[in-house]
Amino acid sequence: MKVFNTVKEVREAVAAAKARGKSVGFVPTMGALHEGHMTLVRTSRAMCDFTVVSVFVNPTQFGPTEDFDKYPRTLDADAEKCEKEGVDVIFAPAPSEMYPEGYDGWVTVGGVTEVLEGEARPTHFRGVTTVCTKLFNITGADKAFFGRKDYQQLCVIKKTVRDLNMSVEIVPVDIVRDVDGLALSSRNKYLSGDERKAALCLSRSLNIAKDMYKEGADLAAIKEAVTKEIESEPLMKIDYVALVDGDTLREVTAESEGVVLLLAAYAGSTRLIDNTLL
Ligand code: PAJ
Repeated sequence: MKVFNTVKEVREAVAAAKARGKSVGFVPTMGALHEGHMTLVRTSRAMCDFTVVSVFVNPTQFGPTEDFDKYPRTLDADAEKCEKEGVDVIFAPAPSEMYPEGYDGWVTVGGVTEVLEGEARPTHFRGVTTVCTKLFNITGADKAFFGRKDYQQLCVIKKTVRDLNMSVEIVPVDIVRDVDGLALSSRNKYLSGDERKAALCLSRSLNIAKDMYKEGADLAAIKEAVTKEIESEPLMKIDYVALVDGDTLREVTAESEGVVLLLAAYAGSTRLIDNTLL
């Protein structure tokens, strides 16, 4: 496995792999790798001949008051995990390699970027679509792997690829959870013991919603039950509880195909998201 810091080195390694007829899989990450990320890596390894993982805490997707500075950076441990899983290349650029002096290129996509996370974090998705477009161009990947954990991000990236005729294929991967149900996230490191315990109400509320949906409850009742479950934890504060169409992310009020329940809530000062298909 090679760890590269420059665009040029990655391009050369990928070109050599492609010249040998290999298909290229790409897993974009911000590092602090956990089993969620490693499941994406294993899926790439199973579907592609050559796997590139990027580890880059992308400054353009953080708002001015967000956690860019304190976001965990653990490249040595990340590289060790990737090596064990048979990753071929890690791309770990410095911010100046991705955004050199005078940089001013942006990829903006409307619609699905404007709701939910986009409302709470107005510049976030412009940073994500921009960095992912750059990374797709740098890696020349045939397939790129994204977790359903960040459901809206997955929709945004699919729409970016579709709207801009990019040739990469986006492959979704299911949410990986801890044994107690908490969806794995690099930000779980910020939680105190009590906050972590309180945060279990998120996966609990998703299970309540799934059971109610199966039994034919209406969506308003499901939303109310989910809200009540999260509000029962004094350490939690809801940002949104939304029942949306899984493709358009538009709010739905009546039972239909592909309804997704999306949650965002604070556990103390840490913002967590979770979701499930109903
Ligand atoms: P990051 O939060 O590091 O996540 C990288 C990828 O891992 C995303 O596709 C995310 O959905 C997936 N992932 C995280 N936790 C997961 C879990 N518990 N189960 C399944 N997949 C999980 O998302 C980003 O980084 C950035 O926005 C990025 C796409 C790299 C652009 O900077």
